[in-house]
Amino acid sequence: MQDNPLEQLANTLNSDMRSVDKLIVSYMQSDVPLIPKLAEYLISAGGKRIRPLLTLASTAMFDGDMSKSYYLAAAVEFIHSATLLHDDVVDKSDERRGKKTANLVFGNQASVLVGDFLFSKSFQMMVESGSLELLKILSNASAIIAQGEVLQLSTTNDISTNMPAYLEVIEGKTAALFAASCEVGAVISDQDNATITAMRDYGMLLGTAFQIIDDALDYSADQEKLGKEIGDDFREGKMTAPTIFALENASDDEREFWQRTLGYKDQTDTDFGKAMELIARHNALEKTIDLAKDYALKSTQNLDILPDSEIKSLLCDITDYTITRSF
Ligand code: IPE
Ligand code: IPE
Ligand code: MG
Ligand code: MG
Repeated sequence: MQDNPLEQLANTLNSDMRSVDKLIVSYMQSDVPLIPKLAEYLISAGGKRIRPLLTLASTAMFDGDMSKSYYLAAAVEFIHSATLLHDDVVDKSDERRGKKTANLVFGNQASVLVGDFLFSKSFQMMVESGSLELLKILSNASAIIAQGEVLQLSTTNDISTNMPAYLEVIEGKTAALFAASCEVGAVISDQDNATITAMRDYGMLLGTAFQIIDDALDYSADQEKLGKEIGDDFREGKMTAPTIFALENASDDEREFWQRTLGYKDQTDTDFGKAMELIARHNALEKTIDLAKDYALKSTQNLDILPDSEIKSLLCDITDYTITRSF
């Protein structure tokens, strides 16, 4: 079978990615044994490594200094890992990367604290890059992620949440880190402002599409392939694209159903099935995927100004993969 474009990019950047992995392993060490134990539990389970690959790719594409890029790629993956540890506590999730979540195995307290440790370590790695500008981009992104997660708290269980509010949440919690991952590569390589902006916008729109699809998968994926439990968003009353579309033209009865299940989190065993039915009745998954496709298309348009290269075409393929992925 043909590798997916993320795997192709990982192959192209194989030795660079190995250097990033070495940094990841060395920065998760600590004299407190629970720290490497818990961090290793999450990190060795894999994950797609899409964000560090974007950083490496956006550096390599412009012939930038790869050794600086390793620190930033590892920092980006640490920020991501830290947010996952925190996110699974907040979402009370049971499964991540095909395994029990760290919070289930080690407890909420350990997950939150090791998440904090990884955040702090990511800052140490950013400092290693020796550039205040890079530190600024990634530290901004990490504040924006936290802000997005908090904003999401205030839309959870509120069925009047509309599309702009949802988009603001996902641009914060997910897209900002994709944007920063891409932007830093262009900055390391001393590109002009137009190129830096193009890379940031590419990442921002790609990250938005990525999260929209993730939210569709929460109602449609094959759980085994996805490696996390489906239906988490429904159980927690999270307002995401599928439910927002289903609510747009909902009848009074349907609205009552959503208010009970998402608004009051008063759910029976058959409610998730009923939710899927309503989502299907309103073509809400198709609409969700179309929305992601719009973002994906706009994302790659940003690359038009760049000279053609193997990596550029892989970045375009990654955008396509983002909207067709099933895990
Ligand atoms: C999960 O991100 C969180 C979202 C932004 C949807 P990924 O899907 O990149 O997670 P891993 O790293 O591959 O497990
Ligand atoms: C992603 O949000 C978490 C962050 C980007 C911080 P979700 O809660 O939707 O992601 P999953 O589904 O748990 O991976
Ligand atoms: Mg979650
Ligand atoms: Mg999700």
